[in-house]
Amino acid sequence: MALFVGTSLTGRTVDTTDGPLKLQRRLISGSSGTVYIAEYTKTHRQVAVKVIPRSIQSADCSAEEFRKQQDVQDHENIAHTIALYPNARLGHHGIHTSFTGDLLVFDLYRGGDLFTAIASYHYGAQEDKIRDTFLQVLSAVEYCHDHGIFHRDIKPENILCSEDGRHVFLTDFGLATTEDMVHCRCGSPMYMSWECSTHHVGDPATFSAKASDVWSLGMILLALVTGHCAWTSIQHPDYDRYRTNPDLFWKERFPISRDLRVLLNDVFVEKTEERITLKQFRKRVADMPTFYLTKKELANAPPTVRAVWVAYVERGRTQLEEGTVSKPLGSNEIHHHNHHHHMPFSAKNLLHHARKVLPFIRAHRVEHVQSSLG
Ligand SMILES: Nc1ncnc2c1ncn2[C@@H]1O[C@H](COP(=O)(O)OP(=O)(O)OP(=O)(O)O)[C@@H](O)[C@H]1O
Ligand SMILES: [Mg+2]
Repeated sequence: MALFVGTSLTGRTVDTTDGPLKLQRRLISGSSGTVYIAEYTKTHRQVAVKVIPRSIQSADCSAEEFRKQQDVQDHENIAHTIALYPNARLGHHGIHTSFTGDLLVFDLYRGGDLFTAIASYHYGAQEDKIRDTFLQVLSAVEYCHDHGIFHRDIKPENILCSEDGRHVFLTDFGLATTEDMVHCRCGSPMYMSWECSTHHVGDPATFSAKASDVWSLGMILLALVTGHCAWTSIQHPDYDRYRTNPDLFWKERFPISRDLRVLLNDVFVEKTEERITLKQFRKRVADMPTFYLTKKELANAPPTVRAVWVAYVERGRTQLEEGTVSKPLGSNEIHHHNHHHHMPFSAKNLLHHARKVLPFIRAHRVEHVQSSLG
């Protein structure tokens, strides 16, 4: 894999059954492959191509991944597939030995992924945008579940954005399964459910992939609202703190409203039968008056909470006011004026504090783990 990742295919043209496909620019190297912007040279149609070398995944696995996504791509919030070219020849002639791989071709989403959007403060303080985006993701996941597909790797990196940022699309069905009851520890630690995280390799006991997806969605909502995940993994002491006293945990760390705290407590539940369903989740988010603390609550909150506010929420608001992001109703003055009054520390110190204490999403682009097949 190291050899492959270091071997850029940029500029290379691959012959496909739909004509020559030119790989124009490498977007990102993930754990299972590399994604390029490419162009069908005959039609000049630009697409995204995930190149998976044979050394990483069998042609059968690529076909499975592609087919699962195809099965649900009719939903407006799931990324569109275009073509699968198995066993494409990608090798150099000459110095390097030739190598083969599968090309998975998708519509190109020019807004990048949701991880980058969150880390670029496109969501801080924007309640309507958060709600709208989250409900789109939830709707995509619900559609998958209704069609018997469980994603298992729901995280901001696997959600793509339209150029204007108004629409999002679930992608990366590399870990998706058609079985609700599974016995495989896979996903990404920050978003991974308790039952999945604590599952031991070889243990035949099964757990619900459906319920695990619900847990991951909870973490996505927190990330949209605060720019942070609650813990880096279930094994981290932060999770024990949450478990010991959930309300205290949220109050000491995040500038989130009581309604959101209560909702998250119904998502991050170890017993899957007590975990909230997607239907209930949708209603609670749709009906929630605010995700954030009020100005008064914030003034009385501990430094870490205000640190998150300054590091993420305030920054999102500033960007909105400066017009970098589309401005909805211009009702953002209140907090802004009084912010220094209520912040006895310098913003720089607070930022430093926040980074030290919390898994700030910016510092944690995570790759999935898969420790057994199932
Ligand atoms: N259709 C697309 N349009 C724009 N960008 C894309 C598209 N598909 C993928 N990307 C970018 O490439 C990244 C990796 O893609 P993807 O998640 O499908 O593969 P991966 O991460 O290698 O797979 P895995 O999660 O199994 O390791 C995404 O996080 C996103 O930034
Ligand atoms: Mg991915």
